[in-house]
Amino acid sequence: MAIFDIPLDQLSEAEAGREIKKLSAAIDDANRAYYQQDQPTITDAEYDSQKRRLESLENKFPESAAADSPTKRVGAPPSKGFKKVNHAKRMLSLDNALNLGELNEFITRVRRFLGMDSSDPLEFTSEPKIDGLSLSLVYRNGKLFQAATRGDGVVGEEVTQNVMMMGDIPKSIANAPNHLEIRGEAHMAHADFAELNEKQIANNGKTFANPRNAAAGSLRQLDPQQTALRPLRFFAHGWGETDAELSENQFDAMQAVENLGFTVNPLMKRCSDIEAMMSEFNRIEKLRSSLGYDIDGVVFKVNSLSLQARLGNSSTAPRWAVAVKFPAETAWTKLNAIDIQVGRTGALSPVARLEPVTVGGVVVSNATLHNEDYIKGIGSDGNSIRDGNDLRIGDRVKIYRAGDVIPKVSDVDLSARKCDSVPFDFPDTCPACGSAAIRLDGDAIKRCTGEFSCPAQQLERLKHFVSRPAMNIEGLGESIIEQFYSLQVMHEPADIFTLKDTLEQRSICLSEKSGWGEKSVSKLLAEIESKRTVPFARLLFGLGIRHVGEIVSDRIAKHYVDYESFVAEVDKSIADREPSEVESVEGVGKKIATSLTNAFKNPTARAGIDRLVAQLEIIPMEMATTSASQLTSLTVVFTGTLEKMTRAEAKARAEALGARISGSVSDKTDLVVAGLKAGSKVKKASALGVRTVTEDEWLAILNQQQQ
Ligand code: IVH
Repeated sequence: MAIFDIPLDQLSEAEAGREIKKLSAAIDDANRAYYQQDQPTITDAEYDSQKRRLESLENKFPESAAADSPTKRVGAPPSKGFKKVNHAKRMLSLDNALNLGELNEFITRVRRFLGMDSSDPLEFTSEPKIDGLSLSLVYRNGKLFQAATRGDGVVGEEVTQNVMMMGDIPKSIANAPNHLEIRGEAHMAHADFAELNEKQIANNGKTFANPRNAAAGSLRQLDPQQTALRPLRFFAHGWGETDAELSENQFDAMQAVENLGFTVNPLMKRCSDIEAMMSEFNRIEKLRSSLGYDIDGVVFKVNSLSLQARLGNSSTAPRWAVAVKFPAETAWTKLNAIDIQVGRTGALSPVARLEPVTVGGVVVSNATLHNEDYIKGIGSDGNSIRDGNDLRIGDRVKIYRAGDVIPKVSDVDLSARKCDSVPFDFPDTCPACGSAAIRLDGDAIKRCTGEFSCPAQQLERLKHFVSRPAMNIEGLGESIIEQFYSLQVMHEPADIFTLKDTLEQRSICLSEKSGWGEKSVSKLLAEIESKRTVPFARLLFGLGIRHVGEIVSDRIAKHYVDYESFVAEVDKSIADREPSEVESVEGVGKKIATSLTNAFKNPTARAGIDRLVAQLEIIPMEMATTSASQLTSLTVVFTGTLEKMTRAEAKARAEALGARISGSVSDKTDLVVAGLKAGSKVKKASALGVRTVTEDEWLAILNQQQQ
């Protein structure tokens, strides 16, 4: 390598540029060999001298220095924690089909949404579902600019420096669009996982339960050099924001992604009908054990990208893709005990404590037993399960685990049952507060009647309130809440925001307590302060009202926009003793509306909510759309049969433009779209003076918005 010896001041800019490129590539190769394959190709001295030469070249010719140069990576100081980054497009999850019957339902749903007949051609792609963790890789002008984990789909953690250490992720790509985001799955191969665990044991480090955990732990190393020591791999399976179309269909687009230098799973295929999909599912399942990396199912995606765009997304997942999971894995073990846990809404949930057993590569020591009937051998539909056999402490039981679902007890071995065993006596009182536990008619769940005085319910409500999808208060984990609870400074959500004052008033010096220091105390108090300002939907979800989940909270919040209007509506229905108008919000039925009204009607609950609200600044909901359209905030009702698109597509498109969809016409309705054979809703609209349009007029409005 004579060129390395030319004195710097005799090099032209172009020559320096070429040498920088060559040296960077050589150092990258050496890094991979050393860190990832544990097989150094050059001596330490050679490595050091190459790096020094590169550093001096970059100092002299900074214009030619690359942003991702190895001099800026290896040897870089460990980053402190991870920066949060917003994903330009949400990183969604996938809907699951548990069996091939559900796959059929998925295809029918897609066809129905698109208004296609069963004979119209519709192509899908098939590929394994990799059991790893999602990564987003943003490239600007061909250079890897930012890598992030999925996080909650909206905000992820920036792991760029760590990803720079991953061998099969290109750091720069030729002929790429200016802006390109590739998404895929980081994972660890079985052999690499076994080797890593051996090394961990040898170094007295912690071992990982499975390759997925190992991959996640390795990627989230604060010191990128530690990531470099872990053999992580990457399969690209899609893309996010990009300023150039990759192709017209998924399959060719992934081919293009592969041509850019990414690894795309080689098992990906196109399927033109359900038979082909089923045979791909079976083929991949057969290959599963010999692939050398974990997969947990097969993902099917509508191939045409224009159809994908029409199908759009539900709130959590694309409508154009589905994951069919492989059948569950099972194992036999002993049922050591049955514990009763008390949930946020007072539900008494039995949990099986098991002799630890490995099921599908994961050690299982707990399983849900759902409720009293389940232990007796009665399913939620009233039919018998496990042939009607009950479960007793000491029994030999079969554990069933499918994908990520909580393990279940699916069978019991009566031949192994001890003759002195007795049926399980489900308690009639709450194990946490001693109040009576009762089962209302038609409810499979026994509930504690202690409500706001039951410590278990109080604790669970607090835990739910601070959780990620609710108020997302970091640093207030379960054990810390329990600590505050036992110090009697935190009983209800409002107490979180008065914590600082309470500690002062009661002269409790937290930083002197075990596990706390001055820094961690002030960090927590600052985090709490920062969460005083909260979007309405998060607050509503955080209240933990029965049946009011994330999606429902979001819908209600979007419908009423601000908290005050919502509460005014609820109060009105309480005063009038009338069913609440909340019921007419799309996706909110009587059950949810009643549960909401009850929560606001109960004086103890309401006082708690009011105390909390007094501490907060509640941000009204912005509309779902980025640019204000004519439809933003309008309440639209669809009625009758639409001819040009299905009801589902029409609703989805309206929602994407910021409209709120309601199921019934009232004086709050702005627009009624009347298809064929529309009846009473059109009459009601005209009586109320609400504008009614035909389907064609509606399409014209939509097209106007989308121009
Ligand atoms: S496509 C959701 N294809 O599974 C948007 N995802 O359960 C489209 N995953 O977070 C995703 N293998 O990271 C897709 N072949 C594959 C996949 C895959 C694994 C992950 C993905 C997502 C998760 C959802």
